[in-house]
Amino acid sequence: MKVNGTPTRTIWLAEDGRTVEIIDQTRLPHRYEITRLETLDDACRAIKDMLVRGAPLIGATAAHGLALAMRADPSDGGLATAYDRLFATRPTAINLRWALDDLRTRLTPLPPGERATAAVARAVAICDEDVALNEAIGDHGHAIFRDLWERKGQPERFNVLTHCNAGWLATVDWGTALAPIYKAHDAGIPVHVWVDETRPRNQGASLTAWELNQHGVPHTVIVDNAGGHFMQHGMVDVCIVGTDRTTATGDVCNKIGTYLKALAARDNGVPFYVALPSPTIDWTVRDGVAEIPIEDRGPGEVQRLWGRLDSGETAWITVTPEGSPAANPAFDVTPGRLVTGLVTERGVCAASADGLSGLFPDRAAA
Ligand code: MRU
Repeated sequence: MKVNGTPTRTIWLAEDGRTVEIIDQTRLPHRYEITRLETLDDACRAIKDMLVRGAPLIGATAAHGLALAMRADPSDGGLATAYDRLFATRPTAINLRWALDDLRTRLTPLPPGERATAAVARAVAICDEDVALNEAIGDHGHAIFRDLWERKGQPERFNVLTHCNAGWLATVDWGTALAPIYKAHDAGIPVHVWVDETRPRNQGASLTAWELNQHGVPHTVIVDNAGGHFMQHGMVDVCIVGTDRTTATGDVCNKIGTYLKALAARDNGVPFYVALPSPTIDWTVRDGVAEIPIEDRGPGEVQRLWGRLDSGETAWITVTPEGSPAANPAFDVTPGRLVTGLVTERGVCAASADGLSGLFPDRAAA
């Protein structure tokens, strides 16, 4: 995607071929800043403090973080420490474990002297693969949108509701849930996006809205509680969201509030799609509600809001009374029965064990 007209990814190998550069997403939408990652510590901090976020980008950053660690200490102990430290950064997005397992499997048989070069090559390949997977998701999702739009008689406005940020900022490029939106918009479908603000960190209001602005996609930011109202009034044609971990049975874990949107969509007969690249499937988990670890980010993000003051400065402001506790589960699980379909790089399937194993027989059996 482009930032101010320049093609850009969210993470890339710096010109020195050794360090890594990222967009610092904690600054958006008010400042566009590039930050350099030079060490394992830098990569861990970038994931934990959410300079990078979104399941696929967390995985890509972990891969680069392991490569940075191999430059400093390519021994078996160095590999184990780097794996453990990166794995501990955030608990819910399975792409983190997927990327770390992938690299560890490839690096372990190599002599330590060869590990850094191999790790960088694989990290770069994971990033390139992520872009290809997401673009394919975009094509499959675009076909769904076109079909819905045509069956509705090609209205002048095709309303899509999305939650959180599952755009190119959440991946290396294209995004998952937003890839079909970009493809449909570019192909001339008059897409308009309802953007859930996504409290407490406002990934929708700050990141999704910024991305859509950059690409010129018409959109409107709404508070998290407004989606059901717009669905009741026939103003949402389709919902599409991303996911941090999808079980082998099709349950979908995504940003807190996704479940309520799926319930409202079901009540109003609005199709509810989830877009995901296959590294987001956790084939070891069958019951999403019981088994997926949900990140608790602490009360501060609920009690306070971050934004730009009229003076132009950015600041945190407190919204709750002193002494009121707050709870902050960062994700929830939407049972597969509420999901119309899973949009993957291989096509669209039912959110069920049969649906997923039908599309990925090679992985489901592994
Ligand atoms: O806490 P975040 O910002 O990392 O959460 C991101 C999401 O919930 C996304 O919807 C999910 O990672 C899918 S991204 C393609």
